[in-house]
Amino acid sequence: MNNDFSSPKSVPQPEITELNAAELTTLDHRHVWHPFTPMSAWFSKKDPLIITHGQDEYLYDIQGRRYIDGVSSLWCNIHGHRVPELDAAMQRQLSKVAHTTLLGACNVPSIQLAAELAQVAPAGLEKVFYSDNGSTAVEVALKMAFQYWQNIGRSEKTGFLSMTAAYHGDTLGAVSLGHIDAFHARYRAINFPSLRADLPQIPAYSPANSTIDSHIVPFSLFSEWDNYIRDVIAAHANVLAAVVIEPVVQGAGGMLMQPHGTLSRLRKLCDEHEVLLICDEVMTGFGRTGALFACDHEQISPDILCLSKGLTGGYMPLGATLTHQRIFDAFCGDPNAGRTFFHGHTFTGHPLACEVARVSLQMILERDLSRRALEMSQWLADGLRALRDHPNVGDIRITGGIAAVEIVQQRTPLTPFPWQRRMGGEICRRLRSHGVLLRPLGDVVVIMPPLAATKASVEQICDSLQSIMRQFPDLFTDHG
Ligand SMILES: Cc1ncc(COP(=O)(O)O)c(C=O)c1O
Repeated sequence: MNNDFSSPKSVPQPEITELNAAELTTLDHRHVWHPFTPMSAWFSKKDPLIITHGQDEYLYDIQGRRYIDGVSSLWCNIHGHRVPELDAAMQRQLSKVAHTTLLGACNVPSIQLAAELAQVAPAGLEKVFYSDNGSTAVEVALKMAFQYWQNIGRSEKTGFLSMTAAYHGDTLGAVSLGHIDAFHARYRAINFPSLRADLPQIPAYSPANSTIDSHIVPFSLFSEWDNYIRDVIAAHANVLAAVVIEPVVQGAGGMLMQPHGTLSRLRKLCDEHEVLLICDEVMTGFGRTGALFACDHEQISPDILCLSKGLTGGYMPLGATLTHQRIFDAFCGDPNAGRTFFHGHTFTGHPLACEVARVSLQMILERDLSRRALEMSQWLADGLRALRDHPNVGDIRITGGIAAVEIVQQRTPLTPFPWQRRMGGEICRRLRSHGVLLRPLGDVVVIMPPLAATKASVEQICDSLQSIMRQFPDLFTDHG
């Protein structure tokens, strides 16, 4: 063993220098494996978007070009970039300590944030279990629900029911709940099986629907769905640990929006049949839908609530899984009785993340950003109105600060473009030259700017989209 710590000569020391765009591109292509990205296609991008800084709702690339961050840096940014209050919160905490563990110790911001979350969360959700991101918030929920039933002697209740087009993250438990074939089918052999149910009024065409098998029910009436979901839950209640839903808006499935009443119906059925209800508000939480939490629209409390993304205003990775006293109590008692929740991450309750989350939450409440999302709803509706008659727009859906524009080959009969045309991607690529950054879900163009974005920015996004849809009819012709 070499104990000579004084001579690091053999270790190559990377030089920290400012690199230009070409050098960074070369290094990116050589070393970075991008998420959800066909990498061979990525290599053909000679001018990839390299973000260097941001300000408010804008991001700037290495060439100095300015873009509106029209998808909130993947649905998480709430207040914009370089927000003085959030920057100060991070700096304040940095001047104390960056990270300490929650295993066997506490830290100040994680205690305070938990108490503050408990105050604003749907009623009764007073216990906060931290993790790192949305997927882990869901993993925690799954293990918590599963073990709850084991701990109270109902070990037959091990199953999970999730929704058609569901997306709950990319870790294996979350993937087991997922029902978007393009993302999930490949991994079935290493998933646990979950039951799938349909939600009411899934539109005739959506990226989710293009992968759905024949059991999809086109519910024309809420009462039809009502009977259907009651039968599904009743039939499996004895083995179901929990029903899992992205309340009000299903995100990655194509921004699919549920009619009012869906959540309260599920809450009632879960209560009647002794099944837990898990609401995954990783995307919908913190004002995005026009209420602090999507559950608030129907004034229901789930048994378990999953949060991330907007939890820190989009500044830091942090997940939180909230539950109520009854579930928590099932994990208490004699330490030798095997009831302990054996779960935790190195960065659980990260002080920097928790401190910035506290300030973000305070700002959301003080500035009433949930109401701001409702205003944004109107700006989006006004801005997208002219597209309603476009022959290649199949549907426009808006809830709070979330809009989805579905691009189709033709409206009647509703026909999607062949996925290989990647029309959503092509439109978003063209939007860049208008100074707008959007990311599609298949052929659904998603608009979800930071809640603090100005009306002018929302109008610019909508105008740019319209101008692309109008100016490029050749984009929509069939090239065979
Ligand atoms: C509803 C929902 N749950 C979970 C996740 C996973 O979150 P993360 O990407 O932070 O793991 C996402 C991500 O988009 C989501 O939309």
